[in-house]
Amino acid sequence: MLVTGKELLDHANKNGYAVGAFNINNMEIVQAIIEAAEETNSPVILQASQGGIKYAGIEYIAALGKVAAEKAKVPVALHLDHGTDFEQVMLCIRYGFTSVMIDGSKHPLRENIELTKKVIDVAHAVGVSVEAELGKIGGTEDDITVDEMEATFTDPDEAKLFVEETGVDYLAVAVGTAHGVYKGEPKLDFDRIRKIKELVGIPLVLHGSSGVPADSIKKAIEAGINKVNIDTDLRIAFTTAMKDFLKKNPDNIDPRKILTPAREAMKEVIKEKMILFGSNGRA
Ligand code: G3H
Ligand code: ZN
Repeated sequence: MLVTGKELLDHANKNGYAVGAFNINNMEIVQAIIEAAEETNSPVILQASQGGIKYAGIEYIAALGKVAAEKAKVPVALHLDHGTDFEQVMLCIRYGFTSVMIDGSKHPLRENIELTKKVIDVAHAVGVSVEAELGKIGGTEDDITVDEMEATFTDPDEAKLFVEETGVDYLAVAVGTAHGVYKGEPKLDFDRIRKIKELVGIPLVLHGSSGVPADSIKKAIEAGINKVNIDTDLRIAFTTAMKDFLKKNPDNIDPRKILTPAREAMKEVIKEKMILFGSNGRA
């Protein structure tokens, strides 16, 4: 069933686990995520980035997400990932998304607060949940790149002010992760997560979670993370399985035969993540 992001994440916050938010770009990816959620009895968030929306088209991505959610035996939220402007968020709300992220992290604090408030006024009026970002997460997520040198950790006092002034439902924090493939092992600032959580109380979101060691993810959840975003690890599972299949079957011309093992491989990775996040059995 289709639910709001707030409904899922408030439950996770109260019960000390995290919900996985996985990026969707096509039908097979949506199916892999929903099958994994049903097999582990997990609540789940299907999220589309602006790049994903551009690739599939808003009508297709929204329809895929909604059909999957309505058919699913577990609660599913349909979320906009890293929406950078008011218009993009409005379009997603119009197409039935139940959760949106307004990423104003590239703006100075005051402008980020104003943009987030503007989105929240409209989104909350129609029952849609809102995620915002404070601090700058490094790396590349589709069309958004933040240089390593520009990345800045979230300041706990600023986070308190931000949440009080905006009334945001959940907050993405910059605590040592980065989007994309890591060059070295990421070092997460768990004390910072704990401090922010103490001050704001709302669900916190970890971006750039692919490639982060399992024990770090566990500690981050214990410290206060309730939404874990995963994209890169899914891309790797999907494309590795496709390449393997094509290597073994170079004469194949049936896309379904290539996509079936890719969907299966992605599903297995998602199931492992759900168990790691503790969302299994929580649907
Ligand atoms: O918003 C999406 C996530 O932060 C994905 O990050 O590709 O490093 O897993 P990732
Ligand atoms: Zn992200």
